[in-house]
Amino acid sequence: MSRIDNAELRGKVMSADDAAKLINHGDVVAASGFTGAAYPKALPTAIANRAKEFHARGDEFQIDFHTGASTAPDCDGVLAEANAIRLRFPYQSDPQMRNTINAGGMKYYDTHLSHSARQITAGFFGDVDVTIVEATRITEEGHLIPSSGVGNNVEFLDAAEKIIIEVNSWQSLDLEGMADIYRIGAAPNRQHIPIYATGDRIGKTYIDIDVSKVIAVVETDLPDRNAPFKPIDEVSKQIAGYFLDFLESEVKAGRLRYDGYVMQSGVGNVPNAVMAGLLDSNFENIQAYTEVIQDGMVDLIDAGKMSVASATSFSLSPEYANKMNEEAKRYRDYIITRPLQVSNHPEVIRRLDLISNNGLIEADIYGNVNSTNVSGSRIMNGIGGSGDFTRNAFTSTFITPSEAKGGAISAIVPFASHIDHTEHDAMVIVSEYGYADLRGLAPQDRVPKMIAIAHPDYRPLLEEYFERAKASSHQQTPHDLATAFSFHQRLAETGSMKG
Ligand code: COA
Repeated sequence: MSRIDNAELRGKVMSADDAAKLINHGDVVAASGFTGAAYPKALPTAIANRAKEFHARGDEFQIDFHTGASTAPDCDGVLAEANAIRLRFPYQSDPQMRNTINAGGMKYYDTHLSHSARQITAGFFGDVDVTIVEATRITEEGHLIPSSGVGNNVEFLDAAEKIIIEVNSWQSLDLEGMADIYRIGAAPNRQHIPIYATGDRIGKTYIDIDVSKVIAVVETDLPDRNAPFKPIDEVSKQIAGYFLDFLESEVKAGRLRYDGYVMQSGVGNVPNAVMAGLLDSNFENIQAYTEVIQDGMVDLIDAGKMSVASATSFSLSPEYANKMNEEAKRYRDYIITRPLQVSNHPEVIRRLDLISNNGLIEADIYGNVNSTNVSGSRIMNGIGGSGDFTRNAFTSTFITPSEAKGGAISAIVPFASHIDHTEHDAMVIVSEYGYADLRGLAPQDRVPKMIAIAHPDYRPLLEEYFERAKASSHQQTPHDLATAFSFHQRLAETGSMKG
């Protein structure tokens, strides 16, 4: 059965290679795609091949490439490998792309995802020449039914000069009804977003587009590709245990109820482990107002523990992506996919009083958090939505193993080598040694709490630093600037922060 019900658009069907020929060197290309879901599956490889042909002839071919967030090896990976991108925005997590960026082979602009659509429509990155969007189907009226994510699609389609649509028959037709498409509108007449409860639906189930802008339609049948989560190890279980202890203490303090806990959960292996921990907890009617739907949320829905999950996209392992596809009809009673501007909007996050939960690379003794740059200069993924939620949550939490790379790296350091979330935003930090509740504490009073969650091997080194800092500095946030990065220096010189 054809998934293209609009006659005009049926006439624009062509191969991915032919569609790629409509993309030129220097074009600003915006695309669907969010954490391994809903990204275009055929055009990226065709564009990468076109770039290789140009390069083989000694000609230039590079595009600027903007999405909702990370994609997958058959999108970001192939484009980076072909040296086909000049500038990437706003998030990536592909190993090949990460290496290219860190080697200086392409530029990367990393920003809060809730701002990304507005920055595109405002022209910070020039005009959008072509927008490529994956859809589950095209209706008779020419409306697009979103596939496994919405991301920045609405704003990218509105801003584009030309549009290419990939219609992917791998994506379930039963996804129709999951999306809630709402346009925020333009200032100065922008209204508030009328979401008062996690599950409120405020828009349409489809994206209406200007059909006359469509220059090609490409049919695909390829799956979303996401790496499976790592098996939950002992350390992750301990972290999840302490995170639950923190939630229990919130209930005791009267700030949280067992019924109706509203969560945000970041990407990564450890946040996924926390959700497994919630399966056996006292919490019921858990609600997610978050950026991505992860395996752990699907398990919570299946166990009757989660009543609603609002996000912008899926971030599911291959096994769970298949399950979602097969049972989309059932899951759409629980799941809402929204434009990224809405899923991550500060206004709604503040209204819902949620508890955010994200991973980190390192935190310092005062609670500043680095989520993005290893040793201050090597990009890992990007800030993603962690800042949108951390700054605006009722309580922000971070979870991390106390060490990385077999103990050579401490997650708690004297001074974070790059700061994404300042001491004013990060509130509770959890490791396998407990949780540091920094709320209401002056900087010096946070230090013992932070050292207590560091790995025991690093605690004496951190204590020694703090004593030195107190002796040599002013007392609000004492630092000894000469040795503030001594952990990172030792790592660079010896391969270990222990020296
Ligand atoms: N130095 C070097 N490498 C480090 C490190 C450090 N201080 N801390 C972690 N890492 C490495 C780990 O060793 C691991 O590497 P591997 O994949 O080669 O084994 C990798 O980072 C992932 O770490 P892990 O402990 O498995 O945690 P995670 O999967 O939860 O990811 C972040 C942690 C920080 C990378 C991840 O949470 C992230 O990208 N955050 C920023 C974006 C974000 O928060 N998005 C959510 C918004 S809704």
